[in-house]
Amino acid sequence: MERLPGIVDQAKLSDAESIKRLVKRFADDGKMLHREVDAICNDIDDYLVCRVDNEIVGCAALHRLSDNLAEIRAVAVREEDQKRGIGTSLVLACLEKAQALGVPKILLLTYEPGYFGRFGFKRGKIETFPDKLYGECSTCPKGPPSECSETAMVHHL
Ligand SMILES: CC(C)(COP(=O)(O)OP(=O)(O)OC[C@H]1O[C@@H](n2cnc3c(N)ncnc32)[C@H](O)[C@@H]1OP(=O)(O)O)[C@@H](O)C(=O)NCCC(=O)NCCS
Repeated sequence: MERLPGIVDQAKLSDAESIKRLVKRFADDGKMLHREVDAICNDIDDYLVCRVDNEIVGCAALHRLSDNLAEIRAVAVREEDQKRGIGTSLVLACLEKAQALGVPKILLLTYEPGYFGRFGFKRGKIETFPDKLYGECSTCPKGPPSECSETAMVHHL
């Protein structure tokens, strides 16, 4: 499939509904967590989107958890636009953003460890990230961290 030259851009508040719908496609199948419009708007500075013909075809977010740790989350590309390099552009843009902010360590939780391994992420243990474990993981709608089936991965910049 040919690579699609989408534009990766900082998200705007007016993108929140489209981001929610894009994430929902995969969250309904249990591949990622749902993101509500209010939560997306609160964290809008975290979100990057890929636009093609002014339509959002992909998104990703870089969320700072502490001074030395950020999380990449909500990485999604519309099914019909996958395998065209959009996910790669979004993940690389998140890593660049982390570098620009001076955050040395990036965490992510995923069902697609093979994909993120391509960017240098290595398998880690969520227990070594108390900011995440005792923060957002403790209120995860999917249940307690002990029952989490996602793979924790870490990238050192
Ligand atoms: C994972 C996802 C973001 C990848 O986006 P994408 O735009 O298709 O990715 P790219 O085009 O940049 O890269 C595709 C390449 O990654 C490979 N790839 C995809 N998933 C993979 C996996 N799980 N393991 C290893 N390689 C994988 C593809 O085979 C392809 O290889 P190629 O470049 O050699 O052809 C996309 O499939 C998606 O939205 N999935 C559903 C949501 C999801 O699971 N998100 C991750 C949650 S953290």
